[in-house]
Amino acid sequence: MHPTIVVKDVCKSFGKKQVLNNVDLTVESGQIYGLIGPSGSGKTTLVKLIVGMDRPSQGDVHVLNTKVPDLHLLQRIGYMAQADALYADLTGEENLAFFGSLFRLKKAELQARIRYAADLVNLTADLKKKVENYSGGMKRRLSLAVALIQDPEVLVLDEPTVGIDPELRQSIWAELRRLKNTGKTILVTTHVMDEAEKCDCLSMVREGEILTSGSPNELKEHYGITNLEEVFLKAGGAKG
Ligand SMILES: Nc1ncnc2c1ncn2[C@@H]1O[C@H](COP(=O)(O)OP(=O)(O)O)[C@@H](O)[C@H]1O
Ligand SMILES: [Mg+2]
Repeated sequence: MHPTIVVKDVCKSFGKKQVLNNVDLTVESGQIYGLIGPSGSGKTTLVKLIVGMDRPSQGDVHVLNTKVPDLHLLQRIGYMAQADALYADLTGEENLAFFGSLFRLKKAELQARIRYAADLVNLTADLKKKVENYSGGMKRRLSLAVALIQDPEVLVLDEPTVGIDPELRQSIWAELRRLKNTGKTILVTTHVMDEAEKCDCLSMVREGEILTSGSPNELKEHYGITNLEEVFLKAGGAKG
């Protein structure tokens, strides 16, 4: 194993408000890594620094041995933002074609990727509809398909399953595991504990700090408890 994402001593402030405090994080190649924490704890801020959409106030981030931000990295990282960034007056298919065209894909390859990504998120039947007529869950699914369109080595997904029904959530997690088994590295944020259980490794985030990290089992053993929700409470309590 070798590290795919390395966050070193990162701080981030907005004005006087410090949102991330000395965050260190290493995601090994081929892992599904979860960032779990309550709303406002800093997950999205951290993820944006990792994909290069924003810059740390202190510290640095490397992805695939390259210092972020880097133009060439964009091709290799699929990013699904928390807020859907889609063109409402285009169809689902046109959105996928547009985002796909930003990458170096041959026409046939692009068509194949559109079919694959749409099928994965169960949108094939809705591809010809305009996104303005999509439900919230359909938009999340399309955003996930967009993140996968260029077949990136690293996937960074910010609360990918919010607004998605349980059945499709299961199938998306099954696909994330399949992608992991083909060697992809996946960083996912969530505030849902049952999703945290599905990760190989977790960091629990609160108030801009990482409280504790480890595999779900390691964390449970370390704190001597059987569910992650309690680990979160204990780790938070230990910090004071
Ligand atoms: N651009 C910004 N300007 C000022 N404050 C921000 C900005 N982005 C995020 N914050 C603040 O940073 C904190 C962490 O937010 P965020 O990273 O979105 O948390 P999470 O994704 O865990 O819900 C919040 O208090 C939020 O209000
Ligand atoms: Mg967020």
